[in-house]
Amino acid sequence: MDSDFEIFLVAPPGLEPHLAAEARAAGFDGVTEQAGGVALRGGWAEAMRANLDLRGAVRVLVRFASFRAMHLAQLDKRARKVDWSAILRPDVPVKVEAVCRASRIYHHKAAAQRIARAITETLGAPLAEDASVRILARIDDDLCTLSIDTTGDPLHKRGHKEFVGKAPLRENMAAMFLAECGFDGSQPVVDPMCGSGTFVLEAAEIAAGLQPGRSRTFAFEQLALFDPAALAALRRPAPDRTPEPRFLGFDRDQGAIRGAAANAARAGLSAWCRFACQPLSALERPDGPPGLVMINPPYGARIGERKQLFGLYGALGTVLKERFRGWRVGIVTSDAGLAKATALPFLEPGPQVAHGGLKVQLWRTAPLP
Ligand SMILES: C[S@@+](CC[C@H](N)C(=O)[O-])C[C@H]1O[C@@H](n2cnc3c(N)ncnc32)[C@H](O)[C@@H]1O
Repeated sequence: MDSDFEIFLVAPPGLEPHLAAEARAAGFDGVTEQAGGVALRGGWAEAMRANLDLRGAVRVLVRFASFRAMHLAQLDKRARKVDWSAILRPDVPVKVEAVCRASRIYHHKAAAQRIARAITETLGAPLAEDASVRILARIDDDLCTLSIDTTGDPLHKRGHKEFVGKAPLRENMAAMFLAECGFDGSQPVVDPMCGSGTFVLEAAEIAAGLQPGRSRTFAFEQLALFDPAALAALRRPAPDRTPEPRFLGFDRDQGAIRGAAANAARAGLSAWCRFACQPLSALERPDGPPGLVMINPPYGARIGERKQLFGLYGALGTVLKERFRGWRVGIVTSDAGLAKATALPFLEPGPQVAHGGLKVQLWRTAPLP
């Protein structure tokens, strides 16, 4: 067992470059972009820190073993040689998942079953379908790589958002889109259609210097080597910053506004955020320096809605051009035609990112003339 692993950060597909930039800025070593995520080098401490600190990752995998396996009997034999007791606890349920690609072993369920049996028969850990500790086996070109998911519930679940609204954006995507718009914590942010408040809350957390994983638990807490003192040492107290209420969320739905304000309170961000029920037509530019308008308007996935939404996107463009000179705009939508209906001066659109069965894209502007 080596304590210098390849650690793989799963990214929302399309946002790998932003996650790589975040990991580099956070001081991780050997950061390289790969399809579907970002690889870096480190030990268990780095894996814990990635879970606690990175805003863009979906989950953090530690690749702890790899060996050739040409057939199931060989997989069975080599899986039994792995020192499972160095990773798993005999009393904590585990689940094994496998994928096979371009390999002589092609039956992923049989492969997962062999590895699961090796774990139960050598270590004694029970198997459970709903286990939060998961071993992931990838058999690619006859090379079996074993990873452990150190995260559990995906990292966009920060632990504060009990109210989720109708079509919430995931927190990790919101954070990456804010970064793509140049947000560094110093600018004000307005979301005129905030729903559960995702953009406003992520932006306020960044400004307040809070760790995204500060309120939740992680699968690594159930692993053999887990040291609560090491995790405690990675937790940072909230920095001493005077809250500035420059993160504003509006929505025409009173229920969404109540929910967003409750989410902010749970996150300890009430002093940084303001939420109010108001339609787009009432949106005014806040006093103070220009900042960023971030919006995830309705997309109209249902038939018949799209036509009406052209009016809404057109009105959005007019309001922003007339009242938000000097501000930058970021719009996240699955519909390029609707984005263009704003007639805003967009830069090149961002990559398409899978989100809830759709592909969304960020459309951003430079400061509006
Ligand atoms: C896709 S949801 C936003 C979800 C949000 N980003 C989140 O993470 O929860 C779109 C929101 O736009 C709001 N909305 C639609 N038309 C509006 C209007 N004319 N004025 C203000 N809000 C509006 C809806 O009530 C809804 O909450």
